[in-house]
Amino acid sequence: MIKQESIQNLKSIIDITDVIGNYVQLKKQGSNFSGLCPFHSEKTPSFIVSPAKQIYHCFGCGASGDAIKFIMEIEKLSYPEAIEKLAGMFNFKLEYTSKNSFLNIDLLDKVNSFYESKLFIKKEALEYLKNRGLFESTIEKFALGYAPSSNEQFKFFKDAHLNFEDLKKLGVLNETGEYPRLIERITFPIFSQNGKIIAFGGRTISNHPAKYINFTNTSIFNKSKTFYGLNFAREHILRSKEIIIVEGYMDVIMLHQAGIENAVATLGTALTGEHLPILKKLNPKVTVAYDSDNAGINAALKASKLLYKEYFEGGVVLFNEGEDPADAVKNGENLDNIFKEKIPFSNFIINFTLKKYNLKNPIEKKDALNEIKSYIATLPDILKEDFANKAAQYLQTSPALLKTRVSMQNQNINLNKKTDIAEAGIIKTLYENPQIMNSVVEYLSPEMFKTHSNELSAVYAENFEDSRLLEIVLRDDIKTLDLASLKNQIRKILIPYYQNKILQIRLDPKINGDKKIHLLKDMNLKLQKIKKGEFVEGISSI
Ligand code: GTP
Ligand code: MN
Repeated sequence: MIKQESIQNLKSIIDITDVIGNYVQLKKQGSNFSGLCPFHSEKTPSFIVSPAKQIYHCFGCGASGDAIKFIMEIEKLSYPEAIEKLAGMFNFKLEYTSKNSFLNIDLLDKVNSFYESKLFIKKEALEYLKNRGLFESTIEKFALGYAPSSNEQFKFFKDAHLNFEDLKKLGVLNETGEYPRLIERITFPIFSQNGKIIAFGGRTISNHPAKYINFTNTSIFNKSKTFYGLNFAREHILRSKEIIIVEGYMDVIMLHQAGIENAVATLGTALTGEHLPILKKLNPKVTVAYDSDNAGINAALKASKLLYKEYFEGGVVLFNEGEDPADAVKNGENLDNIFKEKIPFSNFIINFTLKKYNLKNPIEKKDALNEIKSYIATLPDILKEDFANKAAQYLQTSPALLKTRVSMQNQNINLNKKTDIAEAGIIKTLYENPQIMNSVVEYLSPEMFKTHSNELSAVYAENFEDSRLLEIVLRDDIKTLDLASLKNQIRKILIPYYQNKILQIRLDPKINGDKKIHLLKDMNLKLQKIKKGEFVEGISSI
């Protein structure tokens, strides 16, 4: 592993404009540089690099990050690979943690061979798998096994001289090392893309309330970046340029057995943004084939939104109600037909988003429209138009109704006309001086902002890559405030806010005598403090 301090040192010697300048022709623009975005196609530059903040941001597609992220994205590298590449570019010698923390991951192969050997002794487990329709050759290919009792496992670990610390680090033993994570379960080794065992999942055959137990994340296994079955599916995906994503181990195994060998599973988690770099490298059409129950359909909706936004072609297939791909194989359904009837992502998103609403009721229709609009707002410009047209058609509403709002949002993204300078100034100041955030957050909450409450929330949450936030902080025309102006601006927001609150409390018939007096007293006290400027007494310097 690369030492953390070494990464910090590297970061402090590199300059992001030098790094990006190797890939993009940059032109000086105010205190920033701009150029054509390398992550989406465009004719006029909307890609900004800020040397002061050492970040880049594209106003067109929303790509943003630091130099390491840039190298990861443009070279399609992992985090440590990108660091090594950067170090190479700057002739920087990285330091690595010493060899004695070397983790012997081959232990997992030994554990798996032990589990495999136990499966053929444990008759019920083998019967269970055969009853579910698995051939012996399939069991062997996926290296399924059986984890016996805790005692039996410990005996094996000792006899085979396996290192207990490593077994803990690899997840075979629980955190305290007291018991194996999988006990009396069928075991599914989880492989890395190139076929190395990195973790296990286990299924009960005795109706244990936890049907499956998966390994927690370890230094070599990250659940939300792993596709189960990808080692077997990889070649097939590259050849067919298609991937099928399912929910569970059994779905992958049954589909492969049925000859559909481009199937992989997300492991009990939905598809996440962290899965996308792997998908982008393979660049296939994507079929989402989750279980046809409520949870599965919701997960499919989430996955579709993510994939559509990232320009993946493909769609969702639905099985009979309550069925999953493994059931469909076992029930001998015509898989070719099922996979042919894919609902394109955009249609699926529109359909299943609107399903929740009764569109005959005008109020619900308005809510439906709003939900669709807010998804449109997250889309890159090129997709907005197409999606809005489709949604309008479905809603039987004029496309203009969706589009006026959409094009307004476009303007917002392309250097916001409707910026509240006072709010933006406060946001930029907090972004640049995070040390004063703690004292400001007590007084100023996002709902007090009229225009930029989302951006204020993003600063507070330290979501420094939020695109709307970056659009403010990267603008040269919005100035960072000094302490006196910051107090002044906050005061200008707080005073009317509390005056309004006091009025509301006074007029509220639901708040009675004592409580009203108490609340009003409290509010008035706050207001006095604010007027005197005492509200930011915790802030002494910027
Ligand atoms: P069976 O066909 O009954 O073996 O299960 P399945 O493969 O259809 O699993 P299901 O659709 O219930 O869940 C899909 C995936 O979610 C599984 O493969 C597991 O990875 C995960 N999962 C299911 N149940 C549990 C559970 O109880 N705990 C955890 N942590 N994960 C689960
Ligand atoms: Mn299932």
